[in-house]
Amino acid sequence: MAVKIAVIGGTGVYNPDLLDDVREEWVSTPYGDVGLQVGRFQGRQVAFLARHGQQHSVPPHLVNYRANIMALKTLGVKSILATAAVGSLNLDMRPGDLVFCDQFLDFTRGRVQTFFEGGPEGVVHVDMTEPYCPELRAVLARAASNLGLPVHSAGTYVATEGPRFETPAEIRMLRQLGGDLVGMTGVPEVVLAREAEICYANISLVTNYAAGISANRLTHEEVVEAMHVNAARLRSLIAETVALIDPERACLCHRAVSGPVVAGSPK
Ligand code: HPA
Repeated sequence: MAVKIAVIGGTGVYNPDLLDDVREEWVSTPYGDVGLQVGRFQGRQVAFLARHGQQHSVPPHLVNYRANIMALKTLGVKSILATAAVGSLNLDMRPGDLVFCDQFLDFTRGRVQTFFEGGPEGVVHVDMTEPYCPELRAVLARAASNLGLPVHSAGTYVATEGPRFETPAEIRMLRQLGGDLVGMTGVPEVVLAREAEICYANISLVTNYAAGISANRLTHEEVVEAMHVNAARLRSLIAETVALIDPERACLCHRAVSGPVVAGSPK
């Protein structure tokens, strides 16, 4: 049975414990080999990929984003639910809150953001009006509502290069620019998923207020601990969402590159 749904587990989400009959798979891609797990959930085949590796051994700036997304594409994945531990710049988005981002600001540096490097692949300028799949975000909102989970159904994710945390001055700037949340891995993952015409949704879990907003100095341990405390809620949200995903996609993500998407057509 084809694998149509994948979960990318970020910091603190390292194993696919909602899946049955889990098997390890290695998928070869032109960008490198990717190890992941495939299992069964409510009659569906679901892939689980630990973004930082099982032992959190790959830092954000060294994640092989192209290999990861291409491996999921190779398996036939059409929808990705990607978890992210994030700091908050927005006082209404508190530690422990869940946010389904709808926009991003990119402050990464030097990460390859495309599969299309000229030559045989050609050149592609992919549309980013709706970087996160609106249909998957709606499914997430429905799943959260079914479970009675309070969530923020929109937010602007700021991607920083890392692996260091931000300075308070950077956080003040990012806040003024309209950022709500800050993390180190959301870009280029979302961009590559779009180029691969895979629906992609972000599930951000706020682990801390960002530097200068929080009274404390930030540590990675604090982020991991906050994810740990909230793991059960995140897991039930993912399970409910996977059960609700419609394999027939009505959104435009599946033709983000191949088109035709009519310019200026109404939403
Ligand atoms: N900054 C960047 N990445 C993060 C943070 C943060 O404050 N918290 C969790 N991931």
